[in-house]
Amino acid sequence: MFLTDRISMLPAALLLLLNAALSAAQTRQTLALNTVVNEAAPNPPFFTIPTGNVLAVSIALCTGTTDTPVPRFFVTNDSSTASPGSGGGDNVFEIVLDHGTGSWTGTFPAGGVVGVENAPPQMSFQIGLSSDIPIHQVVNTSALLGDTTASQALLFSPPFSPQEVQDPSYPNYTLPNAIPSIPTPPSNPINYTVIVAPTSNGLLAMQQTACALSTQKSTGVVANESLWLRDNSGWRKEWLMTGLTAKTNYTVYTIQDTYKVSKPIFFTTKSSTFSCSLVSQLPYCPTIAYAVPLPQPPSPQITYDSTNLPTSLTAPLISSLTNFTTTLTTFACGRDFYSPLVTCADCQRAYRIWLCAISFSRCADPDTAPSAAALLPSQSPNARNPGFPSGRSFTQLLPCLETCTATDRACPNFLGFRCPLPRFNAAQSYGVGYLDSGVDGVQGGGSTGSWSDGFGNVWCNSGW
Ligand SMILES: *[C@@H]1O[C@H](CO)[C@@H](O)[C@H](O)[C@H]1NC(C)=O
Ligand SMILES: *[C@@H]1O[C@H](CO)[C@@H](O)[C@H](O)[C@H]1NC(C)=O
Ligand SMILES: *[C@@H]1O[C@H](CO)[C@@H](O)[C@H](O)[C@H]1NC(C)=O
Ligand SMILES: *[C@@H]1O[C@H](CO)[C@@H](O)[C@H](O)[C@H]1NC(C)=O
Ligand SMILES: *[C@@H]1O[C@H](CO)[C@@H](O)[C@H](O)[C@H]1NC(C)=O
Ligand SMILES: *[C@@H]1O[C@H](CO)[C@@H](O)[C@H](O)[C@H]1NC(C)=O
Ligand SMILES: *[C@@H]1O[C@H](CO)[C@@H](O)[C@H](O)[C@H]1NC(C)=O
Repeated sequence: MFLTDRISMLPAALLLLLNAALSAAQTRQTLALNTVVNEAAPNPPFFTIPTGNVLAVSIALCTGTTDTPVPRFFVTNDSSTASPGSGGGDNVFEIVLDHGTGSWTGTFPAGGVVGVENAPPQMSFQIGLSSDIPIHQVVNTSALLGDTTASQALLFSPPFSPQEVQDPSYPNYTLPNAIPSIPTPPSNPINYTVIVAPTSNGLLAMQQTACALSTQKSTGVVANESLWLRDNSGWRKEWLMTGLTAKTNYTVYTIQDTYKVSKPIFFTTKSSTFSCSLVSQLPYCPTIAYAVPLPQPPSPQITYDSTNLPTSLTAPLISSLTNFTTTLTTFACGRDFYSPLVTCADCQRAYRIWLCAISFSRCADPDTAPSAAALLPSQSPNARNPGFPSGRSFTQLLPCLETCTATDRACPNFLGFRCPLPRFNAAQSYGVGYLDSGVDGVQGGGSTGSWSDGFGNVWCNSGW
């Protein structure tokens, strides 16, 4: 009886399925190459893939949190399977989702089909089809934090369009000027947008997809957006965010080309009493992007750059760099070698970073800085920074000692560049032991192995 029932029912069920598949075939949506379709509870729940050599099918869920029930997606590149699903079949593959994103890449000589199962009615999602890399991706890059004030933040996109460094060679060993010329920016930069929202909004629990995260309108205002070449890793979008709330933890994502999501970073804004100003975009100190003990710049500018910094600050720095370079090149750079590892160009680069870190005191906020940070109550101007306007009390984040020792190591002995020693007085003027380990009895003690982290903590000023 039982057996007979099964046998008599199975063909009927199959017939129904087949009919459904056939009638559905007329109304199935066809995915087009290099496009994205937006869907919610599609009926029929199948999408046709055109024939193609290698194609990437990608999925992004646009609603829900990472622990709500999610649909399952199946793809087949086999012309004998009309309705791929959890029932399996020849060449049926599940597109496994991780935090709302998944993709499958393969050959489709006879086209294919994407099937959706268990789609909750209110769940919207995207399907993308591309000929090379998947349209939807979580990319292994992150935004970069410059620094914050109580209401502002300087943020950078991941780098793109890396620069070839052509070090000079003998006999024309010409080092970059103190104020180097900046190459022209790329004409078609990667389209990065930034999403900044209080961490308490719970972005980490959302699907980690551009369509889901973009529903979080960025908190604050992008007051300025520009391109900056910080270092040879490439150009970056630089965003100046304003209108943020003091002492608040924020989460930052960048979205690349509308659909690719970076890993999040975090930062905390300073206390409302923090009174330093942000500086960035200095051609002679390209890696500097932090708060310095200067009052608000004259309106309409809201941060400092090379156009509005006091020359009392910049002139001595540029003069030092020029003089240093002149003295350095009395050595027959490129013909004679003072080290098997480093060259005059390395020496100039290291000196520039050290000089910039030393010349631009970095402000910290004792309320929000990590407890182990190299903080020093300071007054401007001081011996290191005679060029700062007088009468400001601030908490200084001391330069990392490694910024000094890197210069010592990269430069020829005859220059007489020396750094204080950890076992004597280095900790009075430097953050000691944050990067290099094995230093006993000092702050940091090498325990972090780094001068900053992805949570906005900074232990010493590396000049980066
Ligand atoms: C379908 O994809 C699988 C896995 O990549 C591959 O082994 C198979 O050859 C493909 N089928 C066709 C018809 O190309
Ligand atoms: C992603 O980045 C992390 C840290 O930067 C690295 O350890 C890891 O190998 C990277 N993964 C891939 C797939 O590139
Ligand atoms: C020497 O190198 C500099 C910078 O690379 C370049 O501008 C200059 O034209 C070169 N001079 C000669 C004589 O090749
Ligand atoms: C900011 O939020 C992240 C994620 O919840 C957390 O790991 C980090 O410790 C927070 N930072 C601060 C300063 O509260
Ligand atoms: C850049 O991306 C944004 C949103 O992701 C989009 O609105 C804009 O049209 C894109 N611009 C270009 C030039 O692709
Ligand atoms: C925005 O950035 C550009 C380029 O760095 C600069 O010229 C301009 O003055 C900035 N605007 C404000 C309001 O800071
Ligand atoms: C650089 O050298 C010039 C000429 O020798 C000198 O007048 C100037 O003071 C030097 N600059 C610095 C910052 O030492």
